[in-house]
Amino acid sequence: MKRQELIMDSFRLTSMIERTGDHKMRRMRRRERGCRGGVDKGCRGGVEERLIDMISQASEGDGDDGEMILLHNTPIELVPFVVMEYSPLSSIFLLITPLFLFFIFKQRFRSSKNLPPGPLSWPIVGNIHQIGPNPHVSISSFAREYGPLISLHLGTQLLVVASSPGAALEILKTQDRHLSGRAIPNAFEHSFSPFYLVWSADCGEHWKSLRTLCRTELFSPKALEAQSNLRDEKLAQMIDFLLGKKQEVVNIGEVVFTTMFNTISNVFFGKDFIDFEDEHGTAGGLKGKLFTLLKDGIRPNISDFFPLVRRLDLQGIRRGNLKNIRELFSFWEDIVDERRTQINSSIVVADEEKNFLDRLIENGFSNDQINICAMELFIAGVDTTTSTIEWAIAELLKNEEALSKVKEELKYKSNTKIVGELQLSNISYLNACIKETLRLHPSVPFLIPRRASEACEVMNYTIPQNTQIFVNVWAIGRDPKVWEDPLSFTPQRFIDSNLDFKGQDFEFIPFGAGRRMCPGLPAGIKSVQSILASLIKRFDWVLPNDEDPAKLDMNEKFGVTLQKEKPLQLIFKALD
Ligand code: HEM
Repeated sequence: MKRQELIMDSFRLTSMIERTGDHKMRRMRRRERGCRGGVDKGCRGGVEERLIDMISQASEGDGDDGEMILLHNTPIELVPFVVMEYSPLSSIFLLITPLFLFFIFKQRFRSSKNLPPGPLSWPIVGNIHQIGPNPHVSISSFAREYGPLISLHLGTQLLVVASSPGAALEILKTQDRHLSGRAIPNAFEHSFSPFYLVWSADCGEHWKSLRTLCRTELFSPKALEAQSNLRDEKLAQMIDFLLGKKQEVVNIGEVVFTTMFNTISNVFFGKDFIDFEDEHGTAGGLKGKLFTLLKDGIRPNISDFFPLVRRLDLQGIRRGNLKNIRELFSFWEDIVDERRTQINSSIVVADEEKNFLDRLIENGFSNDQINICAMELFIAGVDTTTSTIEWAIAELLKNEEALSKVKEELKYKSNTKIVGELQLSNISYLNACIKETLRLHPSVPFLIPRRASEACEVMNYTIPQNTQIFVNVWAIGRDPKVWEDPLSFTPQRFIDSNLDFKGQDFEFIPFGAGRRMCPGLPAGIKSVQSILASLIKRFDWVLPNDEDPAKLDMNEKFGVTLQKEKPLQLIFKALD
């Protein structure tokens, strides 16, 4: 008899005895005193006899044939367990049995609902305990076992993960309309939620108008051209800072972070917020606040695993996050008020002097809407660009040949302090290096979690409404079925191909695809190109303590963006 049937039988047997009536059991127990636990074989025979007797009477009484059949099927070894109902072992058994049954039912439930396959999920926790600190890696190994579309349970929350170009295409293109909602982390679910762009739960009216405004005012070719001087100015400040550092070891991620933050803050508010010289760029806590917000977004949160209790905020993460968000707003609230007063007065500001804040005010955005928009653009735009640049530098350090090819390509570009945006044409090898970096180290390894706003089908499996959807871009980028020698940094593969990250080639989607695709792509790529090009052209990069670049630690740390576990520390030696 199979183990599963055995358990089923014993469970039914136990419940049958319960129905037989406690008084009979008590009477029997009194008679069998001294034989408790059913370990004494001599006693066991007597108990078995009476038990069978008793069960027969019970089943005769209610005429339940099924239970008589059960008795025949039940191996006698199980009977002592029933007798042990009042011993500690029996309590454990009674506890474990429903758990096993839950397991079995859960698996049946999965197939009866036609959900994508996946690892066995445990009662209550689901698969949470199997995810670990690097979910992009653990989930990739599930995909190797269960296929390109898998389902997991994080508590009671159903999660479906796509890990192949085909599965990504069905989610981001074929079913884009139904799967373009976002699963807002509970940490970010509060009165500001209706104003979101990145976390907007649905592609509703507010999302549409804000995205259109961002496209035209921030990311259109015209807007990008208008911002190019500003970006070059921030880049020049960064190079000056590094030139001043001479032989000092620099955390390059921190420096690029500051550059990117100030670039976006100038486009938005016309003001720098972080100073390079501020040791950790903390600027009165602004950077710390932003990091805490990012961390809270991915902190394991009971409310995300059990949506039924999300209102309770049992760990207090949402409350803490809201406090942090309000403090973050205080860094720019005065600028917003000042600007609003100016716009409402008769002072005329020339069109070319207007920044994004002016546009939002002119378009009737409230202060809260503006605050949320600024926060989201900082979150979406700074860390993604920074981590891409840090990984690219790390890969180029390890790959001497690729680095010298880029140097050769940039040799004739400019004699100025920086490689400004105007000089960024015909840099095909640098572009190939950037693409190769994004393939191996996509800064958002699962894209930003989507949500099924309606039930639909993907790869012939059912995706119920409100399922969370991940697309494991990291796994796709390293899949040997898709890429030759996937783990090697080989920019050349992009020189000989038309593959691009614009959302049409589903084997390479570091910016996502479909209606929620990254609108900041043109700005992000411009910054990555010009910062990398200038760092390569102006400096030799040296690792501290004569560390061998070939042995550079490339371990990853999972977060909102995929970071280097050990931040990259470098000495920048100026080139003439
Ligand atoms: C190398 C740099 C960047 C990378 C790799 C990147 C990647 C991504 C990814 C993967 C998504 C989710 C797409 C999806 O769900 O399909 C996204 C969304 C988004 N990104 Fe970027 N991004 C970058 C730079 C930027 C910049 C510079 C900005 C703006 C300043 C920006 C603004 C946004 C916004 C607003 C969204 C949300 C779009 C929506 O939900 O409708 N990103 N980005």
